Amino acid sequence: AATLRDLADQRGLRMGTAVGSQHLSQSQYAQTAASEFNSITHENDLKWETVEPQRGQFNWTNADRIVDFAQQNGQMVHGHTLVWHSQLPSWVGNGNFSRSELLDVMDTHISTTVGRYSDDIATWDVVNEPIGDNAQFRDSVFYRTLGQDFIAEAFRMADRADPDARLFINDYNIDGINAKSDAYYELVKDLLAQGVPIDGIGFQGHLISGQVPSSIQQNIQRFVDLGLEVMITELDIRIQMPATEQKLEQQARDYEQVVNACYAVSGCSGVIVWGVTDAYSWVPDTFEGQGAALPIDDSYQKKPAYWAIHEALGGE
Ligand code: G3I
Repeated sequence: AATLRDLADQRGLRMGTAVGSQHLSQSQYAQTAASEFNSITHENDLKWETVEPQRGQFNWTNADRIVDFAQQNGQMVHGHTLVWHSQLPSWVGNGNFSRSELLDVMDTHISTTVGRYSDDIATWDVVNEPIGDNAQFRDSVFYRTLGQDFIAEAFRMADRADPDARLFINDYNIDGINAKSDAYYELVKDLLAQGVPIDGIGFQGHLISGQVPSSIQQNIQRFVDLGLEVMITELDIRIQMPATEQKLEQQARDYEQVVNACYAVSGCSGVIVWGVTDAYSWVPDTFEGQGAALPIDDSYQKKPAYWAIHEALGGE
């Protein structure tokens, strides 16, 4: 059968996965990542704490490993992520910087990272998760020091570092229409009106089986109508363990619903799932008793969810 990658390539869609450099030496992991997906995201290895653990001291070893892997396999890389309150080194979080110092710190981080990969990474999550589930700006060091302007500033810095890159804002619990996605709608409308160079919005898509919002397609459409590209950037759909046949069938219908919502809107450029195999998914570590959230299981067997995506992409 054709792989997900073959089918997505034929339709000009992104079908990506998140990868950890620590797993790339395992041949089954690497082969699956290369054959099934046309796009790779660093699950952790491009985050601020990893690439700039001390001010001005950059370490690219693990980030490069993933970019090299993608290049060897002719894959796109979606850059994740530049400005985020989490996995932020303490020298930034506890730095007590003034406004101008923090802008300088951000600019160094963004221009160095985006500049380094300007030939390799065409799309970036510039700002990740700036709004909380209460639909208010999250209380991060960036927001406290710079106010909401930190978002516009980060996009301008990334645009200066690589004017050709496509720049995204990215968050979870904004897949359907709700108070949080409404807040994003107002925010990006405002950024676009100010001429801020923002090109897209990522719906992370960390979802619960049986609870996929019914308004995903409508929500994608309203952001596309603003002129933005939409991507599902971190899709996984977790189930309460143990995973029975019936639960896996429900999960397949859930995946089908999400990917079809994207494929139905021409401004939705594709879907990235948050991991190659259930074996290394973040879900069981975070949500006790839940797991099996990805289309490929922990022994690399293709699940009903895999075949649901396959069919949605036009596979036989
Ligand atoms: O690297 C250390 C290792 O040395 C140590 O032994 C081990 C023990 O806990 O921890 C390892 O670090 C972990 C790291 O993943 C790498 O595996 C951290 O504890 C763990 O917290 C970290 O979790 C990551 C999480 O982001 C942190 O916020 C997940 O792998 C990653 O999937 C997750 O990804 C995020 C996206 O970036 C943003 N959207 C939500 C998504 C899911 O939370």
